[in-house]
Amino acid sequence: MRIRAALLEEFGQPLMVTELELAPPKAGEVLVKLHACGVCHTDMYTWSGADPSGYVPTVLGHEGAGVVEEIGAEVISVRPGDHVITLFSPECGECIHCTSGKTNICMAIRSTQGRGVLPDGTSRLSLDGEPIRHFMGTSTFAEYTVMPEIALAKVDRAAPLETICTLACGATTGLAAALYRAQVEPGSTCAVFGCGLVGLGAVAGCGLAGAERIVAVDLSPQRLELARHYGASHTILAAEDPVSQILEMTSGFGADYTFEATGNVAVMRQAVEAARMGWGVCTVLGVAGKGERLEIVPRLLITGRRVIGGSFGGARGRTHVPQFVDMYLQGKLDLDGFVSHRLTLDEVNRGFELMEAQDGIRSVITF
Ligand code: CU
Repeated sequence: MRIRAALLEEFGQPLMVTELELAPPKAGEVLVKLHACGVCHTDMYTWSGADPSGYVPTVLGHEGAGVVEEIGAEVISVRPGDHVITLFSPECGECIHCTSGKTNICMAIRSTQGRGVLPDGTSRLSLDGEPIRHFMGTSTFAEYTVMPEIALAKVDRAAPLETICTLACGATTGLAAALYRAQVEPGSTCAVFGCGLVGLGAVAGCGLAGAERIVAVDLSPQRLELARHYGASHTILAAEDPVSQILEMTSGFGADYTFEATGNVAVMRQAVEAARMGWGVCTVLGVAGKGERLEIVPRLLITGRRVIGGSFGGARGRTHVPQFVDMYLQGKLDLDGFVSHRLTLDEVNRGFELMEAQDGIRSVITF
């Protein structure tokens, strides 16, 4: 079928919205009609050429939500008409990692996804007969996508797709980091460095976990305001020595849980240093630049701090994302406040501009 999609032909050049060919789903695959897709930093990171594993030509986009249009052979868990969220981090439920209960990094399709093809080693996307590679196994800056069944989370149809698409990446990363990766305990003190979508998700997750104090740190007063809306009890401007302030608030010990959501290694270091002696856990969520290193004074580890990280916040997509959608429908979780701009597919490059200008939290393309 012919679809409109935003094609990345050359790193750093504007995405070109054009018609491509999309082949029907093969065995184990699903055709999804996209209704909405968030524009995420990872898209911009690859677009810029900074991502060492990036490639062109490809169709970017990975924060998608849509409706199942058609299923390939052997697909059993979704049917046409089902509402789904696209998962760049699949959950097969059967591989050595999925069955370990210790990680969300599913191994089932990892090698092919990294090469930009579907599990059978081929692409469904093409332009004038030339294959176009898939991006993150999702390629959701497009009217339709074909994806493996194990990379789709089936969600309640009552939830608006143009809002819950934020759970396809950013919001879930923060929420899951607090709830499942760090496992924040009730009554604890938490500090979140960076209040973009991931950081705000972490603030909300700390709140859901019953944290007593949640300190939000950001360069922007507007974002700190939003962090208060999401449950931050204290806010600190990033320029005003947040580590000292957090240590002061905690009798010199540090926060029980800290989260880093900026991708800046200097901020990661602050998040480690603000974690409590004895048992503080620092969860690193941001993607650092190529070749960058996180510097940690070993004494901080010897005195009991732990540093962990989590892709997708440690969320098991098919299990946890539908639960977050339910929380949203039950009024326990606000996702509407995350969406700052609505764009059309033709305005996709504007999404990158807004992100670069740090204007708003999330731009969502609706189809
Ligand atoms: Cu993302």
